[in-house]
Amino acid sequence: MSKELIERLYRDHYLTREELVALINHLDDEGKKLLFHYSLQTKIRHYGKKVFMRGLIEFSNYCKQDCLYCGIRASNKKVERYRLSINEILQCCNEGYRLGYRTFVLQSGEDFWYGEDKLISIVKKIKGMFPDTAVTLSIGERGKTVYQKLFEAGTDRFLLRHETASKSLYEKLHPTMDFKNRRTSLNTLKKIGYQVGAGFMVGLPGQTAEDLAEDLHFLKELSPDMIGIGPFIPHGETPLRDAVGGSLEDTLVMVALARLMIPEALLPATTALGTLDPNGREKAILAGANVVMPNLSPTKVRPLYELYENKICTGDEPAHCRGCIEQRITSTGMEVDLGRGDSIQFQKNN
Ligand code: SAM
Ligand code: FES
Repeated sequence: MSKELIERLYRDHYLTREELVALINHLDDEGKKLLFHYSLQTKIRHYGKKVFMRGLIEFSNYCKQDCLYCGIRASNKKVERYRLSINEILQCCNEGYRLGYRTFVLQSGEDFWYGEDKLISIVKKIKGMFPDTAVTLSIGERGKTVYQKLFEAGTDRFLLRHETASKSLYEKLHPTMDFKNRRTSLNTLKKIGYQVGAGFMVGLPGQTAEDLAEDLHFLKELSPDMIGIGPFIPHGETPLRDAVGGSLEDTLVMVALARLMIPEALLPATTALGTLDPNGREKAILAGANVVMPNLSPTKVRPLYELYENKICTGDEPAHCRGCIEQRITSTGMEVDLGRGDSIQFQKNN
C-alpha cells in the first residue's frame, strides 16, 4: 500500500490528509528507501545537483516571546543575553562575502530593541555594501507596515516557520502568541513580494501523524519559497526539558514528503538535524534538501544562541564551517552553489 501511495505522490505531488496519515503510520524501511529515492530525483529534476549555501548571522538572543520549547525564551533567566551592533553585523557579512556567500540570513529572537529604523538601516547598509547578495530576515512577527518598509529597504526573503499547523498544539506551545496572527503574517509577507519561508518542527510533545499531514497540507496551500523542517530538541532550561524530542528518521521522512508535495521549494538540511546525527545534514540532502546554512556569527556569541541542547558548530570559525559544509555536500555527490539561489517560483515570477 505504501508503494502505491509513494508512487502517486511522486507523480501527482498530492495525497489527501488521510493518505498521508496512512503513509506516515505504515512506512517501513523499504518504503523509506523508495520515498527518499523519489524525493532526491524530484529535487534533482528541479534544481539539479545544486545545494545552496547561506551564511547565518544570529544577531540577538533577546526574545519577548515565551515558546515552551525554545532555549532563548523570555522566561529563561539563565541565558546571558547579547545583541550585535550594526558594525558587528556588517563585519560578519564582510567575512561571509569574502568566503563566497551571496545570501545572508539575519536571525534573532523577537527583539524589538531593533525597531524599524535600526532594521532598515542594517538592511540598507548590507545591500549598499554587497549589492549582489540576498538578505533574509528571520526576526519573528512585526506588523504589515514594518514588513512593507523592510521589503522596500531591500530585504529579499523572510523566514517565519508556522511551527505546527495544529491550532490546539500551537496554542499549548505558544502562550504569548496567536495562531491566526502567525498565519496572517505569512500571507502578508507573500503579498508584499518577499520570498517566504514557512516550516515546522517534528516530534513536538503530543504531535500526531494527523498534525504532520496538516502541516504538509498547510504548506501545499501556502506554496512558500522555502520550507524549514527540523526535529524538536529539548532544552534543559525550558518546561519541555523532559520531552522525548523528534527523531532523525521521522524528520527525514517529513523532509522527503515536503519535497514531493511542494517540489519547487528550497529545503534546508537544518543544523538541528546535524545535532541529532553527525551525518544528519548529508542524510537530509539525500532525502531531497537543497540548502545549508553555516554559521557566520562571531564565535564569542554562538554558545549563547542555544535554542536546544548540544547545538553543533558553536566553537567553530566561519571559515571552518564553510569548508566543513562544502566537504559534507560534495560527499553526497551533490555540488555547492554559492549564488543567491532564488527559488524557482520567484525566478518564474520575476
Ligand atoms: N524569532 C524568530 C521567529 O520566531 O521566527 C526566529 C528565531 S526562532 C529561535 C527560529 C526557529 O528555531 C523557530 O522557528 C523554531 O522552529 C526553532 N526552534 C526553537 N527552539 C527549538 C528547539 N528546542 N528545537 C528545535 N528547533 C527549535
Ligand atoms: Fe560548522 Fe560543520 S558546519 S563545523
